[in-house]
Amino acid sequence: MRFVDLIEKKAEGGALSEQEIRAMVTGFVDGEIPDYQMSAMLMAILQRGMTSEETAALTLAMMHSGDVVDLSDLPGVKLDKHSTGGVGDTTTLVVAPLVAACGGTVAKMSGRGLGHTGGTLDKLESIPGCCIEQSMESFRRIVRENGVAVIGQTGNLVPADKKMYALRDVTATVRSIPLIASSIMSKKLASGSDAIVLDVKAGTGAFMQTPEPARELAQLMVNIGALVGRRVAAVITDMNQPLGMAVGNALEVREAVELLSGKLPPSDPLYEVCMLLGEQMLCMGGLAADEADARRQLMAAVDSGAGLKKLQRMVALLGGDSSYLTVGRMDELCAVREQLDVPAPADGFVTAMNAEHIGTAAQMLGAGRARKEDAIDPAVGLVMRVRCGSAVKRGDPLCTLYVNDGRYVDEARALLTESIVISPQRGTPTPMVYDIIRSARA
Ligand code: URA
Ligand code: CA
Repeated sequence: MRFVDLIEKKAEGGALSEQEIRAMVTGFVDGEIPDYQMSAMLMAILQRGMTSEETAALTLAMMHSGDVVDLSDLPGVKLDKHSTGGVGDTTTLVVAPLVAACGGTVAKMSGRGLGHTGGTLDKLESIPGCCIEQSMESFRRIVRENGVAVIGQTGNLVPADKKMYALRDVTATVRSIPLIASSIMSKKLASGSDAIVLDVKAGTGAFMQTPEPARELAQLMVNIGALVGRRVAAVITDMNQPLGMAVGNALEVREAVELLSGKLPPSDPLYEVCMLLGEQMLCMGGLAADEADARRQLMAAVDSGAGLKKLQRMVALLGGDSSYLTVGRMDELCAVREQLDVPAPADGFVTAMNAEHIGTAAQMLGAGRARKEDAIDPAVGLVMRVRCGSAVKRGDPLCTLYVNDGRYVDEARALLTESIVISPQRGTPTPMVYDIIRSARA
């Protein structure tokens, strides 16, 4: 069949067969299908959607476009987690070591920051010596020895996604739910774990601005997992404000170390979301009787310091100087030329935040990249001083900027003042967790 006929079929709302989808992905990766035809197809998919079967077929075709990692020689159920991307979202550096401290095997390939969102690899690289580019052999060795390793993608993993994502980015087709689901799940399935917990964010700092499409995306990804025999659970969490207080690389590592050192109360949102994700991982891994049992184990691993030890050991095995990973010493990695408070412009209550713009402000200070080739300054970023619901007086600090290069400080400050809404009346807070979607036990 000519590809132009497939575009027409999708544009008219038809469903593509598994064979047609495979031909599309192979043809595009091989360069036989040109960008202009694939662009038209992506737009047709955005507008017409895809069935669960089409999305599963697309996911599998993408997954098999490159290397597929086999971790079956490692002991236990291999557990992975993925966040759809947020601001102040430091869960991996907390959950992965905690789950390992509870007997889990966590083999995770992470990404870099994308746009206004932070990435675990950039955070790990804020620790001197820590090298996230590792061979498969060393990845396996670290997982075997320590129960947990987080590294950058190795080899030729899902080349179809790299090529499709680049095209989606410039054709306004990123936000298609089946395209997001297949992009995420193809990479998760190719990286070889048996069970995956997805943290699907909803809110002003996320791809999905409201819980409904986030739920749809989550359900679709759980269904894809079930179709291919992997256990997948999804937690739909709020991203209408930064999850943790820190937004920046060393700053977020410091917050993770504080949490793992028992310095944050269990009522803290970052703590709570980490517990929810860890519970799903321990349950899917057969390491806990139920969620309550899982939480008891995870909290015990915080209290005993066993989770922090796993993170320290992992960083040491990645070549990093793990002596920084204590509450006192992390301050050295967060040392900047100046710290500047952003004051509240009026008395009142914080009723809303634009989490995306808060992430962009941190990026302007040098915590993220505006262009692919930009360098990150690991120490800079910002620390929130308020959350939605906080009462403030005019002049109180809303957040503290950590600055080395002052070029964009005024712009960042203006963006932050605009992003944090202060009203005379206390608003209705959004829930922290909207839903948990579990697959039938595989
Ligand atoms: N994250 C991904 O990996 N892919 C998408 O399409 C969106 C978010
Ligand atoms: Ca993230």
